[in-house]
Amino acid sequence: MVFEEKKVTLRDGRVCILRSVETKDAKDMIAYLRIVSRETPFLLRNEDEAAFTLEAEEQLLESKRNHPREIMMAAEVEGILAGNCGIVTNGDLRRIAHRCGFAIALKEAYWNIGIGSAMMDYAFLLAKNMNYEQIELEVVDGNNRAKSLYEKFGFKETGKNFRALKYDDGSYRDEYKMVKILVE
Ligand SMILES: CC(C)(COP(=O)(O)OP(=O)(O)OC[C@H]1O[C@@H](n2cnc3c(N)ncnc32)[C@H](O)[C@@H]1OP(=O)(O)O)[C@@H](O)C(=O)NCCC(=O)NCCS
Repeated sequence: MVFEEKKVTLRDGRVCILRSVETKDAKDMIAYLRIVSRETPFLLRNEDEAAFTLEAEEQLLESKRNHPREIMMAAEVEGILAGNCGIVTNGDLRRIAHRCGFAIALKEAYWNIGIGSAMMDYAFLLAKNMNYEQIELEVVDGNNRAKSLYEKFGFKETGKNFRALKYDDGSYRDEYKMVKILVE
């Protein structure tokens, strides 16, 4: 879905533009995915696995724009792609159509200035407008910044997947499941 662009002033005084991704973002998005996959162990991909072709990425971004119940939001600061987030559908089956998933990441240089909170505020409003009643996500054990932010936004822990992620050094991490109710 394409949604209205929003400007927010960050904690450091800079302006962040929250907008729908566009096909022309594909190159920057691939570079961004490689950076965030390298910077944090809390995402699903290793850096070498963030290897999308330009064509595949363009198609993905276009499909997000055209999907009636999904969004992909870009956070842009001074013309740089700082981060993105997405609302992902669980499908159209009536028994699960009230649920959606959520994912978010930012380049490390843009952490802790309020972009994550601004993206969540806007994305959750859009999720409600798309008739979702609850938002679900997974957060890796040890990702305290993200987990406490989700709790601040009303997410409750509902379970844990043991050994959900396996790293190249052979270690594992558990993952918490969390849910935020939008409509009682
Ligand atoms: C998680 C993430 C999206 C948060 O975005 P952000 O823009 O840094 O978040 P904000 O600046 O809006 O808020 C950060 C909050 O975390 C708090 N915080 C910072 N470090 C923290 C820590 N180690 N433990 C707990 N809270 C912490 C800050 O005080 C702030 O809270 P406040 O608004 O009450 O002051 C971002 O850090 C990120 O991209 N991390 C890497 C990728 C990732 O983990 N994605 C989520 C996967 S589930």
